[in-house]
Amino acid sequence: MTEIARSASGSNGAADGAAAPAAPAADERSYSPGLEGVIAGETALSQVDGARGRLLYRGYRIGDLVERGTYASVANLLWTGDWEPGHRLPTAEVPPAVLDILRALPRDAKPMDALRTAVSAWGATQPLPWPPTVEHARALTAFSPSALAAFARLRSGQEPIDPDPSLDLVEGFLFQLNGQRPDPGTTRALDAYFVVGAEHGFNASTFTARVITSTRSDIASAVAGAIGTMKGPLHGGAPSEVVDQLAKVGSVDRAEAWIRAALDRGERLMGFGHRVYRAYDPRAAALRTVAESMERKPDWLELAIQVEDVALRLLAERHPERALKTNVEYYAAPVLQGVGLTPDLFPATFSLARHAGWTAHALEQAGANRLIRPDVRYIGPSERDLPG
Ligand code: COA
Repeated sequence: MTEIARSASGSNGAADGAAAPAAPAADERSYSPGLEGVIAGETALSQVDGARGRLLYRGYRIGDLVERGTYASVANLLWTGDWEPGHRLPTAEVPPAVLDILRALPRDAKPMDALRTAVSAWGATQPLPWPPTVEHARALTAFSPSALAAFARLRSGQEPIDPDPSLDLVEGFLFQLNGQRPDPGTTRALDAYFVVGAEHGFNASTFTARVITSTRSDIASAVAGAIGTMKGPLHGGAPSEVVDQLAKVGSVDRAEAWIRAALDRGERLMGFGHRVYRAYDPRAAALRTVAESMERKPDWLELAIQVEDVALRLLAERHPERALKTNVEYYAAPVLQGVGLTPDLFPATFSLARHAGWTAHALEQAGANRLIRPDVRYIGPSERDLPG
């Protein structure tokens, strides 16, 4: 029993003759740290089936969406529920006021900080009345790739490039980043990464976006908050750490000894294990296929494939009680590096992809809104007098 529950009869500081405040009853309601296992909402957007390793967007299998869709069509599916494979979403201009702010940022600012700042500033330039609309979602999702590309160029002393309305979102992003149109294979690979990153249930950043929306705040505030949440290393993930890990392994004949030693030191293998998936992450499976078919795949992809087998075998040996399988980060790394992104852009690129999910959740939350305001269990001191 907590201290607060025991404190029925102590000094209470009440004026003479006033009734002593009743001690609050012990709070016996259940509490799950991290809200693990707690159902905190309802969604029709995606279904994450961790036991069977399945991910569905509005009922459609992620593998089929990667194969037959594009990011623009998947974003539209999430926003509207309609499957229109030919749907397009070119990138949008960065308003001059936002560009001024990006120019003013230190060149060594983290891309996630720059993106969060840009989204916040964009919100200040737009009328975004309640409730959020599909048009708000489209406009913000189309703006952010231009903003990230602009910052990436400004920090290396280059001028931003205007959007080309003839290009779809992912191709437009690469064009504005590099100043030249990517080849179709490169576009296809990054588009696949955007599709698998678009949406994933009630993860921390999506929950943040829903909490912010539930106060009837606007979609830019919801997404700025979500980016701040995704910035944390426990969420944003680090495909770049997969690259570092493979560099340390070096060659397949060293893999077993290196992995055993790492596990003996209590280290975690990057790109393995997941809070929800107990089977092979379906996003990793889709990205592995994409990575293998890339023209300009990194040299170490073959090594990654061989090391994966060794890692899975040793993880199963070490943790027979817990299925530790490959997660999305493992094969995101070769795709992101293969399309020419520098590792420090990986987390912000993940955020660009997740815009579709965040904004779709903002729409869904607004459509049946109830302020999200849970309770907390008080574990501090009982009521007492100030000293002196
Ligand atoms: N390598 C080695 N051991 C791992 C592991 C990994 N990648 N992931 C989990 N484990 C082990 C833990 O050490 C723990 O062992 P213990 O009980 O002996 O201490 C056990 O498996 C359970 O771990 P737990 O922290 O409960 O798992 P989780 O489901 O909360 O963690 C992750 C999920 C993703 C945080 C975790 O798997 C991890 O850190 N993976 C590596 C980082 C990564 O790839 N992140 C990207 C995720 S998309």
